[in-house]
Amino acid sequence: MEKHKRTATCGALTVLDAGKNVTLNGWVHRLRSHGGVFFINLRDRYGVTQIVVDGTSSPQALKIAGELRNEYCIAAEGSVRERPDGMKNQKMATGEIEVIAHNITILNRCAVLPFQIDEEDVLPKEELRLKYRYLDLRTNRMQKRIKLRSEVSFAAREFLLREGFLEIETPTFIKPTPEGARDYLVPSRLYAGFFYALPQSPQLYKQLLMAGGFDKYFQIARCYRDEDARGDRQPEFTQIDIEMSFVAREDVLSVTERLMGFIFKKTLGVALPAQFRRITYNDALENYGSDKPDLRFDLVLRDFSTFARESGFKAFTDALEQGEAEKREAAAKGVTKAGGGVKALVVPDGASFSRKQIEELEACAKIYKAKGLAWMKVASKDGAVVLEGGVAKFFAARAPEICEALCSGPGDLILLVGDAVRKIANISLGAVRSKLGKDLYLCGASASEPRFEFAWIVDFPLFEFNEDEEKWEAAHHLFSSPQERFYDVMEQDPGAVLGDLYDLVLNGYELASGSIRVHDPEMQKRIFAIAGFDEEEAEKRFGFLTGAFKYGAPPHGGIAPGLDRLVMLMAGESSIKEVIAFPKNSFAQNPMDECPSLADENQLKELHLRIIHDDKEGPPASS
Ligand code: AMO
Repeated sequence: MEKHKRTATCGALTVLDAGKNVTLNGWVHRLRSHGGVFFINLRDRYGVTQIVVDGTSSPQALKIAGELRNEYCIAAEGSVRERPDGMKNQKMATGEIEVIAHNITILNRCAVLPFQIDEEDVLPKEELRLKYRYLDLRTNRMQKRIKLRSEVSFAAREFLLREGFLEIETPTFIKPTPEGARDYLVPSRLYAGFFYALPQSPQLYKQLLMAGGFDKYFQIARCYRDEDARGDRQPEFTQIDIEMSFVAREDVLSVTERLMGFIFKKTLGVALPAQFRRITYNDALENYGSDKPDLRFDLVLRDFSTFARESGFKAFTDALEQGEAEKREAAAKGVTKAGGGVKALVVPDGASFSRKQIEELEACAKIYKAKGLAWMKVASKDGAVVLEGGVAKFFAARAPEICEALCSGPGDLILLVGDAVRKIANISLGAVRSKLGKDLYLCGASASEPRFEFAWIVDFPLFEFNEDEEKWEAAHHLFSSPQERFYDVMEQDPGAVLGDLYDLVLNGYELASGSIRVHDPEMQKRIFAIAGFDEEEAEKRFGFLTGAFKYGAPPHGGIAPGLDRLVMLMAGESSIKEVIAFPKNSFAQNPMDECPSLADENQLKELHLRIIHDDKEGPPASS
């Protein structure tokens, strides 16, 4: 290789290099020949340079040029020449020069390609891309994203180290850290029947680092969660994990805002606002029907309960009555419940929507448990607003009042969801809002002109009631602190307790979550108790953390932005697979190395494991 080693990359040469003798290494990106002259677009990670093999090249170069095919890996040695006027390509960084090859060496040939590397617009099937990921990675598309990812990690490190944080690794064979997903377990060879868990996050260890006196910690941390795949989820992913001692919520928010500002400026040249807007969890649900609202478009949900209550539309009046009854019943037990609600969403100029379009929106609402999606259209008659179609007859008499309350006018479509559970009305109409955003309002937001709308969602409830298991559980995780004003009343009405919790949302995604933690062992015990852990169980699972709290652990808090989601959004993508070099497919498999794979008998024996075959026996789902 020494002889063929590159003296320049394929993105570096300019007219200033004319006359120089150079060697380039790379892949044949495109190949053309005209009347015995070969034009080879040679590509590496830095760019593309045109290599010309003509009558002035050696017979060796001419012979080899004739053998070349796309994606052959070659070394080309020759002299740099300014391209004649009219032949210059302003679109290419190296478009003003070409290299007249004297020698070409094939470093490695390429078998028949499963897909074309230079076809940027036509994406091969995902399974094929993942099977031949090393080829997919060669595309300009993937090269750019993986480079961005590296730059984002570097910028995060640079900022945090400069701010006095220490990068500290925490173990990946641990006792389970609950974050709401299933653990990946690693069997112990030395202790039959015992398992390590892979961390769902470094949560407990970062808190222990605070107890250990490292007041500003960060780690670009791998996390593992066995949960159903989604576009923004992978079984293994990366967090920019942060924890700080002696801080209040505002300190963590401020560091995160500055961290994001630094990363965006440094890697994309985009200036973010110094502070991100703050929205309470309750307002986010009421106004956007989501705790991760996409704020790139303005649609807001409005309360329609008063109009609905006074209408003769039975679906709504019944829902509201039932909601009231449940609220009263809960109140009698000292528990806060929101009751029912009817919410409205105005689609400007939506009166032209077809039945089919409205049915599609209804199907979307139903996924989120709405019983239906009512609608009516706003028109004008003799200079006055009128309501038409759908459920209009129940509301027609109050058309002017309704339109004023909803800030709606002729040509609009009004969508309504009512439910005995207010949250269902909010969330299902919120899903319709997101769909409308994607379908209508954001179609112009391309990757080349991305917009970034950050917001903090604050004042989350500390506990959520799990209806299936009929028990309270931590809304974020068990180690978050309630807001001080709830310290004394937590047990009476867990559902009303707000936590010192915060999420950072970006363009409709939850980018980061964090909280001020509990550091008082007594408070931690109370939280475990509300979440249904008896003292013995809590001691067994988390005793090592609560034990540390007894030895003067400092007040602390932190946050963890997901690196994959961050880079995905920065790259204008909607799947984190696009910014991970070797991601898993939707079945948690890697089609390239075909993991997960069977273990051999001896290995299983050593690990004290026996496979009990059930009817799922056989090849993994995608093969
Ligand atoms: P949380 O579970 O909310 O909080 O995770 C924080 C962030 O990690 C990212 N994330 C994921 N990214 C890809 N695939 C997944 N399966 C996945 N799960 C989570 C998201 C999310 O916002 N220990 C706490 C943080 C803290 O309190 O400091 C935690 O892990 O971007």
